[in-house]
Amino acid sequence: MGAEIDLSAIVADIAAEMAAAPDRGRPADYIPPLAAIDPNRFGIAVIEMDGTCHLAGDADEAFSIQSISKVFALTLALGHVGDQLWRRVGVEPSGSAFNSIVQLEAEQGIPRNPFINAGAIVVADILLGRHEPREAIGETLRFVRALAGDDTIVIDRAVAEAELATGHRNAALANYMRSFGNIHHPAERTLGVYFHQCALAMSCRQLALAGRYLMAAGANPGTGRQVVSRLRARRINALMMTCGHYDGSGEFAFRVGLPGKSGVGGGILAVAPGRASVAVWSPGLNARGNSQLGTLALERLVQRTGWSAF
Ligand code: DON
Repeated sequence: MGAEIDLSAIVADIAAEMAAAPDRGRPADYIPPLAAIDPNRFGIAVIEMDGTCHLAGDADEAFSIQSISKVFALTLALGHVGDQLWRRVGVEPSGSAFNSIVQLEAEQGIPRNPFINAGAIVVADILLGRHEPREAIGETLRFVRALAGDDTIVIDRAVAEAELATGHRNAALANYMRSFGNIHHPAERTLGVYFHQCALAMSCRQLALAGRYLMAAGANPGTGRQVVSRLRARRINALMMTCGHYDGSGEFAFRVGLPGKSGVGGGILAVAPGRASVAVWSPGLNARGNSQLGTLALERLVQRTGWSAF
């Protein structure tokens, strides 16, 4: 494929097709501010290795990245504690919902992987380390801004506060894991870090820019700076492929065949190694909490570019 594909036309066509799609799924309603987002929104950003950027639809509108932040938090935490992190979090798909608690009982409070809520809460606990929550939150924000090369990225405090007020299941996960010794700080401090990271507000363009290191063996192709080692980038991509869509990860691999990470805000970050960093956003979700049209758009992108890993 390569030279003959017209990516700008493909991206524009997909956005037009998504604008006309009848079944858009339903926005998440368990985090109140997310329920108010217009389900007709759709954005897509495709950034190639050389920095060429193809945008369509609402690609510059910021949305709540939610669980996509788990990729950046994991990257940062691996930088802090290295492979010791894997003593506290596994690398297997859970086959369960993103917020499930059941496996923790038989598995001694060690979450299956860093992309389910329990695993990401452990990662947030690692990022908290010896800091105050606001310092850990500030570090994550600075990291994401540096990755994207964009200092305008912010955390939506209303979203973070809504989750602090309603996130009882996450509080249960944190407290339960604390009883096994796998959360080292009072649950509310760790959850403060986790909820603020989930409340990062980014556009498709900013998200695709931030994900560039994953398509380029760990180096940011914009700056040449090595963000993580080649091995770590490969492993993060492997986890995105196997665990990035929770109990829908198999279906995402089946339909799209790329490492991808979804969030309940309706965004998906997908990586075509050596080719492109892609972000899509449409707030309506499918039954497993992954963006309905975001997945469809990526499926069509891969069909037309031949970018599947398989
Ligand atoms: O903890 C939560 O429930 C949310 N902050 C994030 C969940 C999420 O994005 C799951 N994604 N599909």
